[in-house]
Amino acid sequence: MLRKPEKALDLSHYKIPTHVAIIMDGNGRWAKRRGLPRQAGHRAGAENLRRIVRAGVEFGIQVLTIYAFSTENWGRPESEVRGLMRIFARVLDQEIDELHSQGVCLHHLGELSGINPTLQEKVRRALELTKNNNRLILNIAFNYGGRAEILQAVRQMLADGIDPNDLSEELFSSYLFTQGLPDPDLVIRTSGELRISNFLIWQAAYAEFYPTPAFWPDFGREELYDAIVAFNQRERRFGLVTEREL
Ligand code: FPP
Repeated sequence: MLRKPEKALDLSHYKIPTHVAIIMDGNGRWAKRRGLPRQAGHRAGAENLRRIVRAGVEFGIQVLTIYAFSTENWGRPESEVRGLMRIFARVLDQEIDELHSQGVCLHHLGELSGINPTLQEKVRRALELTKNNNRLILNIAFNYGGRAEILQAVRQMLADGIDPNDLSEELFSSYLFTQGLPDPDLVIRTSGELRISNFLIWQAAYAEFYPTPAFWPDFGREELYDAIVAFNQRERRFGLVTEREL
């Protein structure tokens, strides 16, 4: 199928955030507005993910993290949970070759053991296939919760007999699912909500937060471009003061 020619978006004068993390919210409301079932919203959300990954590669983002299924999402109706699992399986079956050919390296953030064995196996195969790619790292947070991530890190550090005097922020970070990756510079949340919802709560300590009213299926390449432009207008101080304030 022919793709619509894309608008030229010039980011050459902008600093590209190394790591962009996205809370993909609003699939349900997107569907409701159209009189469709929630699952149609999640399907549209998955299609949009393809567009955003492609735009991420185009814009030179190095790490993209998406919040696909939280530990809290298990509390949704069983049919919706099953639907989300099916979509994840389909993304892994049908999109992996394209992701691989774009140079995307897939990572999983969260507890794999909590999901069904067939899906676990698909995830493992996708990670293995793409492990040497280096154009863009795509972290899929699936069965992920920030507090649970911190607890598993503490548990592992205790099991490893870490001396409390050796504990540092760097060492702690190396026990998180994001080990070895830079912290997010920009966290985007679609659909107008202003919460962090247990997402990367350690890693996003100094990230710029960009809420947008667009529902996730409507947050495309141009909206990602706008978020990067807005990021460039922020002054990141990391707790310091700037010269003009002295
Ligand atoms: C939030 O919208 C979205 C989710 C809980 C799921 C996000 C999942 C996808 C975009 C599917 C594709 C991704 C993978 C890899 C599985 P919501 O349902 O909370 O929307 P609402 O707040 O409008 O009800």
